[in-house]
Amino acid sequence: MDFFEAVRSRRSIRQYTNDPVPDAIIQKALEAAVLAPNSSNTQTWDFYWVQSPEKKAKLVHACLNQAAARTCAQMVVVTADPRNWRRSQKPMLAFLEQVKAPRIVKKYYKQLVPVAYTSGPLNIFGLMKWIVAFAIGIFQPMTRGPHFKGEIQAMAMKSAALAAENFVLAIAAQGYSTCMMEGFDEWRVRRLLKLRCSGRIAMVIAIGKEAERGTWGPQFRIPLSEVVHII
Ligand SMILES: Cc1cc2nc3c(=O)[nH]c(=O)nc-3n(C[C@H](O)[C@H](O)[C@H](O)COP(=O)(O)O)c2cc1C
Repeated sequence: MDFFEAVRSRRSIRQYTNDPVPDAIIQKALEAAVLAPNSSNTQTWDFYWVQSPEKKAKLVHACLNQAAARTCAQMVVVTADPRNWRRSQKPMLAFLEQVKAPRIVKKYYKQLVPVAYTSGPLNIFGLMKWIVAFAIGIFQPMTRGPHFKGEIQAMAMKSAALAAENFVLAIAAQGYSTCMMEGFDEWRVRRLLKLRCSGRIAMVIAIGKEAERGTWGPQFRIPLSEVVHII
């Protein structure tokens, strides 16, 4: 299946057959997920592939027993935790050393990334960053964030969403269907995954073989002319 076919065939499917989804399909999609572009290559995402039947039952319950969750064969939860920049920093620096990356790139990962991903207790360091950026920004173009905890969280969330999109397209390309879900009880899902405070859930993804009437109808989008703005 070519790229555009995969994009066109992907729909949010809410009813699945009893057919299993081989683990190899999920594995391949996860490998595609982590190839997504992401903020400063910090790879702040995590993927919880729910294989325990008990945990899956709890997750379905936390997803408000939605049909997609209830009937799917497999489930993957994509999470975003900005503190994960620490996880990638050391191997990234070793990698940069190994490939003889330019000094500026190493400096970026060693010095700038920790600053970008930190807001400090009570956002105090974030406020300091905001003041400095604001002052410099009076005279020249300047990044306007992320400074504060919420902005840093949003940055990690963007990357996780891109990975989730890679994942669902990779599933579509292999002939299976998905449904991304944000209709869930975050508190319960967080408890199930034992997420630390800085982690957030980007998406719960149901995966399965589409049943008859797996969607309500054809795909609907407002015309391109209304959303594309040529300036
Ligand atoms: C972030 C996000 C959250 C979503 N949450 C749910 C959900 O909780 N339940 C559901 O049935 N569909 C959910 N969807 C699927 C959307 O409803 C669906 O993508 C949209 O209606 C467009 O349909 P299509 O995916 O078939 O093109 C979600 C999609 C996204 C991207």
